[in-house]
Order: sequence, then structure tokens, then C-alpha cells
Amino acid sequence: MTAPAGDTRTDIPGLPRPIRWSAATAAFQIEGARDEGGRGRSVWDLWVQTPGKVIDGSTAEPGPDSYHRWAEDVALAAGLGLDRYRFSISWTRVQPDGTGPSNPAGLDYYSRLVDDLLAAGVTPFPTLYHWDLPVPIHEAGGWCSRDTAARFADYTELVADRLGDRVKNWYTINEPAMTTLQGYAVGALAPGEFLIFDALPTAHHQLLAHGLATRALRAAGADAVGVANNHTHVRPLNPESPADRSAVDAYDLLHNRIFADPILTGAYPDLSAFGHEMPVREGDMETIGQAPDFYAVNFYNPTTVTAPTGEDNPIPFDIVPTPGAPVTGFGDEWPIVPEALTALLVDFTERYRDLPPLIVSENGASFPEPDRAARVDDADRISYLDGHIRAVGAAIAAGADVEEYTVWSLIDNFEWADGFTQRFGLVHVDFDTAERTPKASYDWYRRVIEGNRA
Ligand code: NOJ
Repeated sequence: MTAPAGDTRTDIPGLPRPIRWSAATAAFQIEGARDEGGRGRSVWDLWVQTPGKVIDGSTAEPGPDSYHRWAEDVALAAGLGLDRYRFSISWTRVQPDGTGPSNPAGLDYYSRLVDDLLAAGVTPFPTLYHWDLPVPIHEAGGWCSRDTAARFADYTELVADRLGDRVKNWYTINEPAMTTLQGYAVGALAPGEFLIFDALPTAHHQLLAHGLATRALRAAGADAVGVANNHTHVRPLNPESPADRSAVDAYDLLHNRIFADPILTGAYPDLSAFGHEMPVREGDMETIGQAPDFYAVNFYNPTTVTAPTGEDNPIPFDIVPTPGAPVTGFGDEWPIVPEALTALLVDFTERYRDLPPLIVSENGASFPEPDRAARVDDADRISYLDGHIRAVGAAIAAGADVEEYTVWSLIDNFEWADGFTQRFGLVHVDFDTAERTPKASYDWYRRVIEGNRA
């Protein structure tokens, strides 16, 4: 990127101080090998096997095939100079039925990955749950059932028992908001339930699972445990309209505060607008509200809302395109507004007292790119990342304590219901051959990291 005349910017963003750098992936999105190593079935296996659920009919296989090619991923992570690599552990590889004894082949796979990362000088920072709920747990009620939180804690203990001697930093759950809103409320992601506000208990059960897992990980010697929440900066279509401002409050509650408040304040916000109370039992809020060691935010775009249209509409907001914003490969759904990340990080800093250090645990964008192996000159991605890293710098300058920034994703991968049609990687993957080719953004991100060293 060339700096505009009169602009003091260089071609890589500088930050007010050194931070940690990471890139992320998730098991179901990169591993392939769904029938290998004794792996059990998850709700995402059911989803990819159901015609019409994945836009290109793909089944996540072979994809990047990281079950066999993890060593290449480790080399790519090390080549970037990453401090940390965020990957996820598949519950169904560790406990094929979601309960019972562990599957040695599953734990061996992650143990090798951890050893190789450490040998390459990259700190492993796994996520215990990135959406791949075991089918038997789903059939017993999934996240609608309180018991799932206890089963998740059992699974966590098995993982901590095997990896806890070498892994000290953990994310418990990835984006509980997406599971509740997209997975259970409107059915756009697995398990595809359409419960609208009856989906709200799934938020409580995931938060409880996070709390129970936090306890188990700390007992096993963890240094840092937190949840990776998806957050958005909510804006009114018309800032002058009181009805639009009420829509902002409602959406902020549903997408951000239901997940952030209990963790950061130990209490839910008032949910009476949705006609629901959470199924809280004695002790739950203490479990959920154990102070996290960091607060992690996955951020992609802001959300613009307006007052709902239609009579008797139970949804108190309409989501609309963000006026004037450029967009990613997802079109209007993903407006590009880097200042929204600054606003979000600063808002959190002002809103929550005793906020622990912040981590940007995912940020990135997809753009149309070739399918076959190619060296991609992804100027659009560089521009997106550049803007958002500068936005992190602006947040730090404004007082936000940001400890880390993470790109989604290290490599192109399986984008859930969008299959292989959306590429987010710093590294191109030919999904037929699994050949990996670093994009221009990979070299650029390496220079950003190098330039930010103390
Ligand atoms: C968030 C999710 O954690 C990740 O799995 C997904 O691929 C990215 N967003 C991009 O949609």
C-alpha cells in the first residue's frame, strides 16, 4: 500500500507499544479427515451431510487437510513470527461420543501439534469448543440442556490432563453469541434450530460451561483462561431517531451484553424486553463471573440497525446495510468500518470496571480469490487488516489495554454454511490438493509483527 501524499503513514501500521501477535483457525474448518483417528460425529457433520445446508455442497473435506498437514501450518505460523497460534480442539476427536473415556489418537494429534508449536517458538493458545458439538450431546438437548455444561467441563478435564503441562493459555468457547443467535435462534448455522427468543437459555448454558471449564483449567495449572466472544459495534441508521436508538439498545443487549455482562459483572442485563429470564440456579453467576484473565473479542464489522417494520414484530430491531461502507466478499452483510473496532474497544474500557487486558481474538476478511494454487496479491485484505490494526493502535492511544491482535485466518478454510466459497487466509489453499501458497498479506503481516517488536 502506498501512503497518500501528506500522510505520515508508512506501508505497515505502527502501534503505540508492542503487543502480541497471533493467527487463528478452528478444527472443523481445517482438519478434514472426518473418519480418521476414531473421531466421532458432531452437529457440523450432520449439517454438511444435509443437502442444501452448505452453499457449494462441500463437506469440509479434504480442505486444508490439517489432520495430516499440521506440520505445514506450524511452519507457516513460525514463518510469520507469531507469538501465539490460536487453533481449536475437536471435542469429537477427544471424546467421540461426547462423554466417557478419552480417545488416545485424538489427544495424540493435539499433543503433537502442541509439541511442534513449542519447538517452533510459537505459544499454543487453543480453543476448547469452536462449534463442533458431539451428536449424542446434541441429541440429549445440546446447549438447550443444562447438562451440556457439565459434560463440557468433563471434556475440558480430559484435555487439561493431557495438555495442561505444556498449554497454559486457553479459550474455553468460541463465539457463544453465534451459537445462540445463528445456531439456535434463526437456524443459519448448525444445529439449525429456529427457536427465536426461546434460544436464550443456550447462552446461559454456554456461559456456565465456560465458568466450569475455567475452574477445571485453573485447577490444572492454567495461567490465562477466557472466552472468545463475538462483538459488534451497534449503530443507529438515523442517529436523530429515538426509535432507532432503542433498536440499538435492543441489539446491543442481544449480541453483546448478554454475553459480556455476566462474565465481566457477574449479572445479566435486564432481559424483560425479550420476555425471558435466564435459567439461573444458585451459584451459577459466581461460576460465570470468575474474573477472566483476559477479555477476548472477535470483531469483523459494525451492525447498523433501525426500528422494526411490520405490526406485531417480536424482533425489536431491523438490521440494515451500513450506509457508505465498502464491503467484503459477503457483500452488505460485512461492511468495512475499522473505526468501529476502536469504538468497541474504547466502549468496553469505559463500560466495564476492572476490565482485564483485551485480546482481539479474531479479525479478518474474505474476498473473491482463485481456487487453484496461486500466489494471490490480496491488496483488499491488506487494506482491511491495515485499517483494523491501526484501529487497535487508536484504541490503545485512547486508553484501551489491548494485549494481542489475531488474524482470522492463518490459512483459507471451510467457512461453515458458505463452504469453500469464502477465503479468509493469509495463505491460499487449493482445496483439491491442500497445497498452501502464502499470499501477499502473509509477507505484509510478517513485516507488521517484526516492526512491532520491542
Ligand atoms: C468467526 C468464527 O469464529 C470463524 O469460525 C469464522 O470462520 C469467522 N468468524 C469468519 O466468518
